[in-house]
Amino acid sequence: MSYYRLLIIFVLIIFTINCHSELSQPKVKSPNGRLQVELTISEGHLLYTVTRDNKILFQPSRLGLIFKKQEGFADHLTIDGQSLNRFDETWEQPWGEEKFIRNHYNELTVEISSDLNPDANMSVLFRVYDDGFAFRYSVSGNGDREEFIMLDELSEFAIASDPESWWIKAYQWNRYEYLYEQSLLSEIDTVHTPVTMKVNPNLYLSIHEAALTDYASMTIEQTGGNTLKCNLVPWADGTKVKGKFPLLSPWRTVQINDTAGGLISSYLILNCNEPNKLTDVSWIKPGKYIGIWWGMHLGTMTWYEGDIHGATTDNSKEYINYAAEFGFDGVLIEGWNKGWNSDWFKDGNVFSFTESFKDFDLDAITEYGKQKDIKVIGHHETSAAIGNYEDQVDAAFKLYQEHGIETIKTGYVGHGTDIVPVGGKPGDHEWHHGQYMVNHYRDIVKKAAEYKIMLDVHEPIKATGIRRTYPNMMTREGARGQEYNAWSGDGGNPPDHTTILPFTRLLGGPMDFTPGIIDLTFDHANRIDNRVNTTLAKQLALYVVLYSPLQMAADLPENYKDEPAFQFIKDVPVDWETTLVPHGEIGDYVVIVRKDRNSDDWYIAGITDENERDLTIELFFLDKNKQYTATIYSDGEDAHWEDNPYSLDIKNMMLKRMDKLTLRLAAGGGQAIRITPEIQ
Ligand code: NOJ
Ligand code: CA
Repeated sequence: MSYYRLLIIFVLIIFTINCHSELSQPKVKSPNGRLQVELTISEGHLLYTVTRDNKILFQPSRLGLIFKKQEGFADHLTIDGQSLNRFDETWEQPWGEEKFIRNHYNELTVEISSDLNPDANMSVLFRVYDDGFAFRYSVSGNGDREEFIMLDELSEFAIASDPESWWIKAYQWNRYEYLYEQSLLSEIDTVHTPVTMKVNPNLYLSIHEAALTDYASMTIEQTGGNTLKCNLVPWADGTKVKGKFPLLSPWRTVQINDTAGGLISSYLILNCNEPNKLTDVSWIKPGKYIGIWWGMHLGTMTWYEGDIHGATTDNSKEYINYAAEFGFDGVLIEGWNKGWNSDWFKDGNVFSFTESFKDFDLDAITEYGKQKDIKVIGHHETSAAIGNYEDQVDAAFKLYQEHGIETIKTGYVGHGTDIVPVGGKPGDHEWHHGQYMVNHYRDIVKKAAEYKIMLDVHEPIKATGIRRTYPNMMTREGARGQEYNAWSGDGGNPPDHTTILPFTRLLGGPMDFTPGIIDLTFDHANRIDNRVNTTLAKQLALYVVLYSPLQMAADLPENYKDEPAFQFIKDVPVDWETTLVPHGEIGDYVVIVRKDRNSDDWYIAGITDENERDLTIELFFLDKNKQYTATIYSDGEDAHWEDNPYSLDIKNMMLKRMDKLTLRLAAGGGQAIRITPEIQ
């Protein structure tokens, strides 16, 4: 091409871009055209407005950043330029609830400047998908890596109505481990994300964030009426984010769907994360495990040494035998290392991560595991003493790696604000969810990858889709799990808890809820104070409903012996080809259908709250040329979570694609189904 022609094209491009910025309002639509985001400047403020099907969903909502030193990222703003980019790609998850994920969006980038400061150049990026939108800030700085201290992020979400909302309060001592509350949006407190809303029976949305990297985590505060504002978890000194330019914020994500179930099968949060950075992922494997764990929560074992110490060499070998008999992959062993005492949650500085208690022989146990083809899952409870952990973590990962341990469960039990930073000044206490800990959790994920170690993090930072970038970040807690049923003073998780989690906490990513309690009323532990508030069938259904690539059979292994329901827990896969959600209403019920990634089997599971109900599903996903056998684990006719939780029917039936299946769920109940094609 001649120099002259190139010059003409160049001039034309510049002309188009300039025309755009002067003449047209920056706006961008979703690929299907239903969702639109438009940016405006009003009184020097940058605002975005969202419409769906031509109706206003978000009123003009403010955008901007406030730094301590640098002015001009919030006021006196002008839009200098804009560009549109279309993107459509399908990528493969190494493991997950869906093998192939389509990432299809239109992206608008607007360049912003301010009269207050000639150096204040900021871009705001909006990605609009069919299933929601996301935005983030990019500030390049002037190239010399100037330091910044951010005092506030002004992002607003001015919802145009007052929807029913599900949320947990932020800034509480127990981190994310609370029951969800339900109220009108106008009545919510300062809350964690995901916060999920039902705008009307045909419109649901959930606000969260994606790619939370080197930034404070976002909570949401209500600033009057139905307007929500980003509230960043501060450092001890009250500032929000510290760093050097360039700055790229996490994505603020809003998943939007016609059905509540559509939120579950939306992969917008993963799509907004960077692709896998680990070149070799052959060592990363989903799996099922049992553990020396539930006994400590029931009080029949201790983490620390003594008569009922759980993690002894003999017990560990017995658990390895059980895991081999059950056909599982691993055994979690908690309470193996020096430091555990009856006050372990008060001071984590006592923990050694390399020295075993004298009744625990790590060499002998891991060697025995090798013989039986069972992996030991290691355990690091830090009790939130970050310095003590960081000092030892290399040696600790090395020790485990040398023993063939490929997965570690970590823990950060501690008051929400009780993180003592490494090298901090006296009195410095950081939040579990501020930038300091966001960075700690990420450093550990990266370090684990160096040692080829997979992680299951309890008391974590919330899931924001990082597993796409670092697929060794397998699963995490970050909500009230099964453990609350063992000891919680409020009687444990009520029947509707697990009908809220899939629409809230699990939108962020997998959860290590630890299902599968068979002794629901703790008869074998001689306990009468607490129990599990579900039927037996519902415990089975949770394996399909609450996605995790590492799934625990949480009960004492001896409780699984001679238990017919256990067959489902043995069969259920942990890695899926695809996921469908035919029914769901937040806090009431959900039915999830998943196809096994390694066979032609399908699994269907439904759960309900305290109300019984029938839910019918069509089997359009089955192959029309095949006959299937379904093994159905359903609540018995007379089952009820409170008075008759063990009543369970197991039956086989033939199924074809044309059939319909009605799931009858008892109060507090569930149903779990395995569908296998007939061999032709
Ligand atoms: C809390 C975790 O959620 C639980 O699973 C673990 O057993 C204890 N911390 C001890 O680390
Ligand atoms: Ca916990």
